[in-house]
Amino acid sequence: MSKTIIVSNRLPISLRQKNGHYEYKPSAGGLATGLGSIYKEGENIWIGWPGNVVDEPEKRAEIMLDLHQHKMVPVFLSQRDVEEFYEGFSNETLWPAFHYFTQYIAYNPEHWEAYYRVNELFCEAILKRAQPDDTIWVHDYQLLLLPKMLREALPDATIGFFQHIPFPSYEIIRMIPWRSEILEGICGADLIGFHTYDDMRHFMSAVSRIIGLSSESGTIQAENRIINVDSFPMGIDYGKFENQAKSKKTQSLVKEYRKQLGDQKLIITIDRLDYSKGIPQRLHAFQDLLTDYPELHGKVSMIMIVVPSRDMVQSYKELKEEIDLLVGRINSAFSTLNWVPVHYFYRGFPFEELSAFYSMSDIALVTPLRDGMNLVCKEFVASKIDQKGVLILSEMAGASKELREALLVNPNDKRGVVEAIYQALTMEPKEQEQRIRSMQKSLRKYDVFQWVEVFMDRLGHVKAKQAEFK
Ligand code: G6P
Repeated sequence: MSKTIIVSNRLPISLRQKNGHYEYKPSAGGLATGLGSIYKEGENIWIGWPGNVVDEPEKRAEIMLDLHQHKMVPVFLSQRDVEEFYEGFSNETLWPAFHYFTQYIAYNPEHWEAYYRVNELFCEAILKRAQPDDTIWVHDYQLLLLPKMLREALPDATIGFFQHIPFPSYEIIRMIPWRSEILEGICGADLIGFHTYDDMRHFMSAVSRIIGLSSESGTIQAENRIINVDSFPMGIDYGKFENQAKSKKTQSLVKEYRKQLGDQKLIITIDRLDYSKGIPQRLHAFQDLLTDYPELHGKVSMIMIVVPSRDMVQSYKELKEEIDLLVGRINSAFSTLNWVPVHYFYRGFPFEELSAFYSMSDIALVTPLRDGMNLVCKEFVASKIDQKGVLILSEMAGASKELREALLVNPNDKRGVVEAIYQALTMEPKEQEQRIRSMQKSLRKYDVFQWVEVFMDRLGHVKAKQAEFK
């Protein structure tokens, strides 16, 4: 019986040390929920990094055993791997390049070597468990070399790859000295998925121009196989957000928070700390809104949640300082004794509280400068059980291709963002309802479970087609 192996840099848990023992916190992320329907079945497993450095062999063994019960297999990274592979090549080279932040790209050969080495480490961990006819689904930019490494060791395996971040234009890819190895690495897969049609097109173009494989209408002709490439926009666990918004717990939190905040309009923004999210630009727009429309003072506040992330990387450290400074500037200029314009939280929140923030907010302001998909906007829409609320969404987020009833903005056009906020603040409830209802309809249908099913079905289909042509 063949099995499915899910592989991602991070396992769907985070490991914490408490009183000499390890605690495992399951991740509430979208990927973990969606793929839960696969890796928890039968002999299937999920392979990835537990998120902490553990060097002692006894502790590694203990973690291995614990995770085994949850159908997970850890790949342990050393401190050097974390610095050179995770912070280094993944997040100082690929992340900025793929998000079009060329000024932040580091070109460090040692980081590249570490990236190669850690992809091999993942490959070895998989090969210890994989059978020749297993299905292996590799996720995201930290593991771009893995599909080819696996293909060489298991020529008949069914290998899928999904990229969760954007795939940039050829003009960016060609800047990376290791571009050929990267593209060849991905092409070890049988099915390659992206969130949007544009990402897919960029990938196909880079493959034909850089490694010379012929590609047309969603297929790439490799030496002895046909590879399929397509867009599969990822959804959320719609029911989970809808049900939580309806729950007593969330409703009572909404009441409590609303009591404290009064009946002012609330704008919610939630992001991981990341320069791709456009947080300073958003704050500048809010500052302009308050300057241009003094009648809004005391009547609108922003609730800004920034979830700490990659804070050992210099560009992230600098961003944190920039945000702190801007929030301080806005609040010190506009606050009154009973009104704070920006409620700023630099931490994560439990699911019930997030649900309450989504439910009680009038506007969600989701303005990344570049984003593969963005799930926050989808979570906001799913949480609007009374259909009251307005989503302002960046054209640069993959989700903007689906959520056409949002107020779409260019995040670099500060004036446009200010006007969109004003339009949202003054939108008639009827129009709000029409827009939200229409977005809810498609998000309910194309949820994360549907996404997994469609990808896996297609992967099976691609493999069957390859067999016909053998
Ligand atoms: C993005 C990436 C994921 C990554 C996540 C959190 O969503 O697509 O691959 O796991 O950010 O980032 P981190 O560096 O903490 O894993």
